[in-house]
Amino acid sequence: MTVETDQSLLAATTQIEAARAGAFPALAVEAFFDEPTNTVSYVIHDPATRQAAVVDSVLDFDAAAGRTSTASADALIAYIEREKLTVEWLLETHAHADHLSAAPYLQRRLGGAIAIGREIVTVQNVFGKIFNFGTEFARDGSEFDRLFDDGDRFSVGGIPAIALHVPGHTPADMAYAIGGAVFTGDTLFMPDYGTARADFPGGDARALYRSIRRLLSLPPETPLYLCHDYKAPGRTTYAWQTTVGEERAHNVHVNDGVTEDDFVAMRTKRDATLSMPKLILPSVQVNMRAGNLPPPDEEGRRYLKLPLNQL
Ligand SMILES: [Fe+2]
Repeated sequence: MTVETDQSLLAATTQIEAARAGAFPALAVEAFFDEPTNTVSYVIHDPATRQAAVVDSVLDFDAAAGRTSTASADALIAYIEREKLTVEWLLETHAHADHLSAAPYLQRRLGGAIAIGREIVTVQNVFGKIFNFGTEFARDGSEFDRLFDDGDRFSVGGIPAIALHVPGHTPADMAYAIGGAVFTGDTLFMPDYGTARADFPGGDARALYRSIRRLLSLPPETPLYLCHDYKAPGRTTYAWQTTVGEERAHNVHVNDGVTEDDFVAMRTKRDATLSMPKLILPSVQVNMRAGNLPPPDEEGRRYLKLPLNQL
């Protein structure tokens, strides 16, 4: 598919250009950085209606103690209450492997629909087998309130949005073009750091390259809001906002001078050197249930599984 025939991308481009022309209110964006997992969560809203969305929230998790806590999510709630926002959406860009989602906790406190890409069912099938979940785990995405297909339209208050399917890091990754900005999930990172890994079950470096190049064919001034930052060597502060043009010119993995084959070779070689994220096993078994903890036993206790020699 070329840019000219990619209807979702054309629609996103039209939307971004309309935002730049002032066709709807400018999206307000507040970022919350979780240093233990290097994750950026966003609360975004339409300043005219004060309707809001949360992108990629974090439930704190002490793996040694097996204890969840809500300081990170409570910081989002405090901001949302202070700003008198109404939450419409709890958007997940994908089933994260490095942190647990706080979406169900936020939903109980604030409302809003939990949404992710439709390909989450692929992740549920792959990891449903790895964790040997039984029939109580439906694997049809039904834990989520909305499953987005590529090109699906939604809105945050009066600001239009388009869901873009950007597989590669996982099969289910989505980016969200909301007003004039794009929330990229784990596709690419700051220009000096590069791109997301593509070696989890269902990951695909070639698909990731194509997804990234798709995002980078949006207008060059488009702001990109990233899901993670790890400080590139030589950089002393965390950063999570850049533009399409900056990424095209300078991304160390996917700038305009890098071919698909070069990227796949680089990404595959680099991924082979990376260890699994500390929280991948807890994260995936919770996040593929839309952030819900596994059902309790007859004593009311909940357990995570630790499958051996599977990853
Ligand atoms: Fe991720």
